[in-house]
Amino acid sequence: MTGRMLVVLTALLTAPLTAGTGAEQLPSSSLELHSEVDVAQLLVLEETDVVMATGNLNPSHYPAQRAAKVVQHYLITRYGTPHRVITLERVHKASAEEVAELGRKYHLELSVQETITNRTESVSAEVVFPGGEGKAAPLVQATCDGLLQINTQVLDEAFYQKHRASNMLVSAENIPGIYGYVDPSMEALWNLGKVVSSEVMLRESNESTLYNLAQVASVTQLETENAQLRFQYQVLLHEMVSQEIITWKLLVSWSPAEGVRVLETEWIPKCEHCVTPPNH
Ligand SMILES: *[C@@H]1O[C@H](CO)[C@@H](O)[C@H](O)[C@H]1NC(C)=O
Ligand SMILES: *[C@@H]1O[C@H](CO)[C@@H](O)[C@H](O)[C@H]1NC(C)=O
Repeated sequence: MTGRMLVVLTALLTAPLTAGTGAEQLPSSSLELHSEVDVAQLLVLEETDVVMATGNLNPSHYPAQRAAKVVQHYLITRYGTPHRVITLERVHKASAEEVAELGRKYHLELSVQETITNRTESVSAEVVFPGGEGKAAPLVQATCDGLLQINTQVLDEAFYQKHRASNMLVSAENIPGIYGYVDPSMEALWNLGKVVSSEVMLRESNESTLYNLAQVASVTQLETENAQLRFQYQVLLHEMVSQEIITWKLLVSWSPAEGVRVLETEWIPKCEHCVTPPNH
């Protein structure tokens, strides 16, 4: 079953991103392919839900991976900067339990990697997916002080001064671009995009989602009167279970002193008839 799931996921990952900007643009042959894939995906999910149980979990299976992804989003919102980005490396151990009046609680042992320095850290984490009909965000407990030893002060300050001093407000589209290329001059803005997207992905996650940032569709620096840099991001989030690409618009401020702040988030519907944001 794991093999089959991987094949399905690989097929989906290699599907072009244009699927999210309007399936009607795809030739009908690839549309058919898409719906076949979706059916396969649903079958896999049903099997997975049966497997989703209390007790020890297979660290490489979906339930443990989904909970671990939530930890990644949490850690990056907590420790991320334009020059410090955290990604899940591996889940070593996972278990889940039902906790009365709380929901399902996962205990995880995992390793994460800071992707600029390649520094790897071990993390113990707990994730609670609140039960009931409410749409509450998962609650995460995890610390990783080793990440703080990656000093980004010099790089952050240089980035800050460059964009403070400049009277040319920076803007960019499609990061990464074709073939996953990120221009070195856009790296910090891409990283900041990861940090702020994780804040939304953390909030929107539940026990059956798996969110990744697919792309920064656009980022525009805005004028400010205070010491914070201010950016408007439009990000494309890939929810791997539903295979949806979801667009969010985020107003963000950042300075080395104040850190990252997500000031406003707005879900952008795909069409004028779509009125309900996911998970609300
Ligand atoms: C991190 O790993 C990548 C891939 O192995 C490598 O290209 C890069 O140079 C490494 N970075 C550092 C800072 O060691
Ligand atoms: C999890 O989130 C997805 C996407 O927003 C939503 O479709 C689904 O109903 C949610 N599931 C639960 C159990 O809340």
